[in-house]
Amino acid sequence: MKLRPDEIANILKAEIEKYDAQADVEEVGTIIQIGDGIARIYGLDRCVALEKLELDHGVTGLALNLEEDNVAAVLFGEWAKIKEGDTVRRTGEVMAIPVGDDLVGRVVDPLGNALDGGRAIESEETRPMEFKAPGVVDRQPVKEPLQTGIKAIDSMIPIGRGQRELIIGDRTTGKTALCIDTIINQKGQDVICIYVAIGQKASNVRAVEAILRQHGAMDYTIIVSAAATEAAPIKYMAPYAGCAMGEHFLYNGRHALVMYDDLSKHADAYRQMSLLVRRPPGREAYPGDVFYLHSRLLERSVKLSEELGGGSLTALPVIETQADDVSAYIPTNVISITDGQIFLKSDLFYSGVRPAIDTGISVSRVGGNARIRAMNKVAGRLRLDLAAFRELEAFSQFASELDAATQRQLARGQRLVATLNQPQYAPWPVEEQVTAIWAAVNGYLDDIPVAQVPRFHEELRESLHAEGTVLKAITETKDLSDETVEALKKAVDGFKDSFHVEEERGLAAAAS
Ligand SMILES: Nc1ncnc2c1ncn2[C@@H]1O[C@H](COP(=O)(O)OP(=O)(O)O)[C@@H](O)[C@H]1O
Ligand SMILES: [Mg+2]
Repeated sequence: MKLRPDEIANILKAEIEKYDAQADVEEVGTIIQIGDGIARIYGLDRCVALEKLELDHGVTGLALNLEEDNVAAVLFGEWAKIKEGDTVRRTGEVMAIPVGDDLVGRVVDPLGNALDGGRAIESEETRPMEFKAPGVVDRQPVKEPLQTGIKAIDSMIPIGRGQRELIIGDRTTGKTALCIDTIINQKGQDVICIYVAIGQKASNVRAVEAILRQHGAMDYTIIVSAAATEAAPIKYMAPYAGCAMGEHFLYNGRHALVMYDDLSKHADAYRQMSLLVRRPPGREAYPGDVFYLHSRLLERSVKLSEELGGGSLTALPVIETQADDVSAYIPTNVISITDGQIFLKSDLFYSGVRPAIDTGISVSRVGGNARIRAMNKVAGRLRLDLAAFRELEAFSQFASELDAATQRQLARGQRLVATLNQPQYAPWPVEEQVTAIWAAVNGYLDDIPVAQVPRFHEELRESLHAEGTVLKAITETKDLSDETVEALKKAVDGFKDSFHVEEERGLAAAAS
């Protein structure tokens, strides 16, 4: 065999060129310190913020602190196997999340790994975890309602598509319950729901999934779970993952709703991570940028302009307070960023108001635009009557004798509260809400014992369905015209004549 030196030289040259590319010293670093899921890496001079890094054993890193001579990264996966001296490779990409229709109906972790025991997620598309929110000209005002199916919210604290409405309250006041009911009510509304569970018990997440499946709501829902047992970086990633998944629909001209349950635990995870990478602690030991952390996230929820497809991403962040303290650091921050808040109070909850919404201090800064006209017409009175009732209620506890007018107002208030009460997993269509509230504010319930108000509404609802025309007119016109009111009056009058007030016995009678 004859050797051809020029051929050998060519092969060698090509090999050397390839070798060079692989061993680019600036693309590979060495771990100089590791612990608590944080690695300090030497040699990644060109690393960018939030860049995805590759380590051995399938561990992924996220570059968080870029310091003069090293990079601090948080690690995802089995980081306990990583040792000092191991190599770390840059990927050149900012951390990205798999997104797309393939995720709908699934329970995933923030990196897009299936948690429901089903097949692996096969989505080709990804979106960056951090994405710049659209500017002013790319947006349009919130105008279409996002019906939650909860009477107290849709009537007095209406939420619009693209809005950010905070749900805030102590533990076990029904915050998660509001989220679940809202998801159930989106059936057939063409809204993809993303429920992000941050730092919750894994069994809770399972229960939420089971309930959603039972109500056929997983068909349009993604659950992103970072359970309490997970390391802080995973919990930190969760809301960004949920948001990125929602943005996929937003930028395709569709509608999505994302719930962050809850951002208090997210802030705690971020605090833990920040302290571990030695960022200076500020108020309540949170790092200085914790405000920016949440505003950046919530600004990504928008209603896009028609030129950009008119899609929307609505956000319902949840904050858990301690003993109703809304002036703590994280609650005040998030209150100031959102377009309104729904306050849930434990004293209301235990006094039987469920959902335990304090309507006096809950607001939606979008207001009437997010309500259909029919609801606007009946809800104005409702808010005033309820406010008057709450004031009288406190006052009347001290007065021994009340005049007839005050008693009437108290009686009306109790029936309004009973009208707005609602069990879980039973959202009401908006046209039925309108008729129920119309009947209550027009005094049809004043002589019905409070305990029988729920039965009154159930039966009224059935009778209106049998009648047919009123509900149809409200659904079609979204308005309450004079003719509709006439027909409604006739129907409710007729129903009331046939309504049978049951004899009350024992405690129930004493209570009313
Ligand atoms: N509208 C309601 N009617 C009756 N029970 C409710 C209602 N909303 C919530 N609950 C119950 O209250 C408890 C706490 O609700 P949850 O949503 O888990 O609270 P949180 O998320 O605020 O901790 C649950 O057991 C739930 O079933
Ligand atoms: Mg909860």
